[in-house]
Amino acid sequence: MRPLTIIGNWKMNGSLANNQLMLETLLAEGHETFKSLYCDLPISLGMCVPYPYLSQAHGLLKNTKVALGAQDVSDHPNGAYTGDVSAAMLQEMGCTYVIVGHSERRQHHQESDDLVARKAKATLQAKMIPIICVGETEKEYENGSTLVVVRKQLQAVIDLLQGQIASCVIAYEPVWAIGTGKVPSPAQAQEVHHQLRLQLATFNAEAAEKVAILYGGSLKADNAKELLAMPDIDGGLVGGASLNTEEFLALCQACI
Ligand code: 13P
Repeated sequence: MRPLTIIGNWKMNGSLANNQLMLETLLAEGHETFKSLYCDLPISLGMCVPYPYLSQAHGLLKNTKVALGAQDVSDHPNGAYTGDVSAAMLQEMGCTYVIVGHSERRQHHQESDDLVARKAKATLQAKMIPIICVGETEKEYENGSTLVVVRKQLQAVIDLLQGQIASCVIAYEPVWAIGTGKVPSPAQAQEVHHQLRLQLATFNAEAAEKVAILYGGSLKADNAKELLAMPDIDGGLVGGASLNTEEFLALCQACI
């Protein structure tokens, strides 16, 4: 049985004052949902924040059970890559998770499947957990190529990481569901998750059982329970709802 994992992704949102308020409220109000965010939780919880706020968030979250994450990473270890941030730097800032291959990176920064795989490898080498995002666009969904697209995206990572895929988290995020209020039915999402797990199983049965496959895309308190009840949906990658502490905690409440 894989434990549920709920990871927030603030994307490019926040300010010093607002972050402090959100994280302090999360830690203070968390007792309603979890008793305390300082003790062992029934689920794994994390928050992926913009680079400039990692230090602030680490200060507030260290010694709690809310893991810190980043939203991207360079595939290079160091050197002349102006503007990039290495995995070792993120590890030093206290990150446990790094999102790689988010559709917003693939779309706005032309990130290829191979680059995403290299970023996942760099993350693992620095002893953090990559959250590898896959998902089809609306057009691909409409022309029935969802499985072809997500399988290709996942295969590039399996080909590079081989057995290390067992130490990763996968997130299925249909692009058409991100920030739109549209969500696939639980059965539709389950089918994609199941197919991704089968793909992992053709490579390594043990990895397939172990790897958490999260769902992301307009996940909210009022739709989380049904989606996360599906056997191959092991948690959520939460955008908008992670910026509202009450909504985020209500979402956690709905699935524990
Ligand atoms: P929303 O929850 O805002 O749809 O975003 C999902 C997402 O992209 C998380 O990475």
